[in-house]
Amino acid sequence: MSERLIELFEQAKGEFISGEQLSGELKVSRTAVWKQIERLKLQGYHFEAIPRKGYRLLSAPQKFAEDAFRQQLRTASFGRPLHLLDEIDSTQLAAVQLVRDGAEEGTLVLAEQQLAGRGRLGRQWHSPKGKGLWSSLVLKPNWLSLAQTPQLTLLTAVALCRAVRQVTGLDAGIKWPNDLLVGGRKVAGILLEASVENGTLQHIVAGVGISVNLQESDYPTELLEKATSLAMCAGHSISRETLLAELMNEWEQLYKLYQASGFAPIKLLWEALTVSLARELVCSTPQGPVQGFAESIDEHGALLLRLPDGSSRKMFSGDVDFK
Ligand code: BTN
Repeated sequence: MSERLIELFEQAKGEFISGEQLSGELKVSRTAVWKQIERLKLQGYHFEAIPRKGYRLLSAPQKFAEDAFRQQLRTASFGRPLHLLDEIDSTQLAAVQLVRDGAEEGTLVLAEQQLAGRGRLGRQWHSPKGKGLWSSLVLKPNWLSLAQTPQLTLLTAVALCRAVRQVTGLDAGIKWPNDLLVGGRKVAGILLEASVENGTLQHIVAGVGISVNLQESDYPTELLEKATSLAMCAGHSISRETLLAELMNEWEQLYKLYQASGFAPIKLLWEALTVSLARELVCSTPQGPVQGFAESIDEHGALLLRLPDGSSRKMFSGDVDFK
């Protein structure tokens, strides 16, 4: 029924179709039509509904255009090959499976929709269809020790921030440890998961979730307070293909710089792009909140807080809120 419903809306070319007309065409009740429209909304379709006039289709989810992405990709390995999936539980899991099947460094998994997207600290990641970039990149840095892997998270945040700034012109900033904010709200997050055997790093699956073209109605209300999308901030939709290609280009360049010159240049870039330093903030920890002045980060990505009593404290993980 959903295919026929979409067909009817496409034929209507943006004009209203009454609920009665739809139920007549589809030979189902008006409640069934309404339920189907609600289902389509979850898949990224946008409708306007007006009593006594009916519904009209405002926008349909866009399919990711692989060709356009490839044309803008200037990397040697990042984003090659691209595995484009329609629907998956999590691209992190799909990437791990690809590694088991022999995937090389640079292999990228992108899904139009995730049904069980994973965030940091065991949270869920909201990943509606056709609106974002939900991707996982396979990395095999056999030149890196396990203790250095947090540096890669910071490097990823720098690549993400630079790509977003370049493609959208928005004033994006990195919030410690690795969120991307625009206007104080989160537009993207990073999740690096390392596989270790006998204390040795095997591979890393680097997940990046970017809320690109989500509209207010794509968010559960409780997320809207802290989250937004690039399109909502820019006031127009953003090319997912250009943004993903730019992310790969930036990321590979920084990765090569890191391999050649170490963490120092990456740390400088992170410091220039962060919104978390030189201000009072509260960091949540399992033992409770810790308030202090954020002075610096160390080479492990830990945040150095100066507490009100003058002592200092290193934060290794958690969430921060600005004062
Ligand atoms: C966070 O800020 O909590 C991290 C979010 C990471 C989300 C991305 S979306 C692509 C990849 N697949 C997942 O399941 N999670 C990451």
